[in-house]
Parts: sequence; structure tokens; C-alpha cells
Amino acid sequence: MLTFTKQRIAQHTARFAQQFILLLACTGLATGGSISAALASEPTPLASPLPQMHVYHRESCGCCRAWMKYLRHHGLDVTETLVESTDAVQAELGVPVKYSSCHTATIDGYVIEGHVAFEDIERLLEERPKGAVGLAVPGMPAGSPGMEVAPDRAEPYETLLIFRTGKATPFSSSEAKLDAAETSMPATND
Ligand code: CU
Ligand code: CU
Repeated sequence: MLTFTKQRIAQHTARFAQQFILLLACTGLATGGSISAALASEPTPLASPLPQMHVYHRESCGCCRAWMKYLRHHGLDVTETLVESTDAVQAELGVPVKYSSCHTATIDGYVIEGHVAFEDIERLLEERPKGAVGLAVPGMPAGSPGMEVAPDRAEPYETLLIFRTGKATPFSSSEAKLDAAETSMPATND
């Protein structure tokens, strides 16, 4: 009887010790796990994060969404407002009708009209040209960001810098970008 009780006590103690060790191990694992998970999910901060962009577009506009996706892919924080028409927004923000496109966006005091490339937006915010309203890619040229087509169907287009006077000057061209991309590519021997 006494032996039996001692055995039971010993069993209980052993089980308790086992559970206690298990508990410690679990807690340790959980703590270690969550810390490393938090570190892993921490985004690498950009050297100088770009300000948030706000896009006005019609709900039915698929290429507008494609352009926003392209910008988000480049790390830009993009928010949106659905509008019946972008006409009023363009008029209010100073985009002449002849330079208009399917969507109008604002970023850091500048207007971005149409399928403008990310690198041009970056350059605009860096150079901050005086008297400028912003950039525009009038119409919707095939091959511009958000208007992707097969390379042979891409049409050459210019990105314009629009001024408050209503005038515009060329800011960049798709052909110059293509040339730059080709010269930066490693040469192939064939
Ligand atoms: Cu479009
Ligand atoms: Cu659009």
C-alpha cells in the first residue's frame, strides 16, 4: 500500500516536471518565434520614402488600376477616389484638356496625368521645377506603364512637363528610356 502510494507520488511528480519543462519550452519557442517573425516582416525602410499619391479615376477604368498596381509595385503608397468623370478634377488641378488622359493623380503638390512612368515621378519630386503643375502623358499610348503591349506594338510617346501658364515642354521620351535600357543591358554574342 505504502509502496503503491510512493509510486503514485513519484509518477505525479514526474508528470508535473515533464509538463513544466514542456510549458517552459513552449513559452520559449513562442517568444523566440514571434520576435524573429516580427523582425522578418519588418519592411526595409526606403532611404527617402516618397509621399503618398492620390488617384482620381472612373470605376470602370481597368488601365487606371493597372497603372496603380505598377506604382505600388515600385513601393509607392497609392490611394484612390472614384469619380464619374475626371474632367472637373483636371480643370481644378490645372491640366489642359489637350494633355488629358484617363486618370489624374496628385503627389506632394504636383499633378500626374495619365500613364506616367515611376522614374519620371521620382525625377519630378527630386528636381521640383518652378512654376510646374506636374507631368502628363496625354491620351493612352500603347506601351506606357499600365498600357502594356507586345514590344512591336508599343508606340513612342513623350512625357510632358506642364506649367501653370498652360504651356508644356518635353520631360522625357519613351524612346530615350528604351535606349537607356538597351545600353545598360549586357551585350550578347550571337
Ligand atoms: Cu488609361
Ligand atoms: Cu487611367
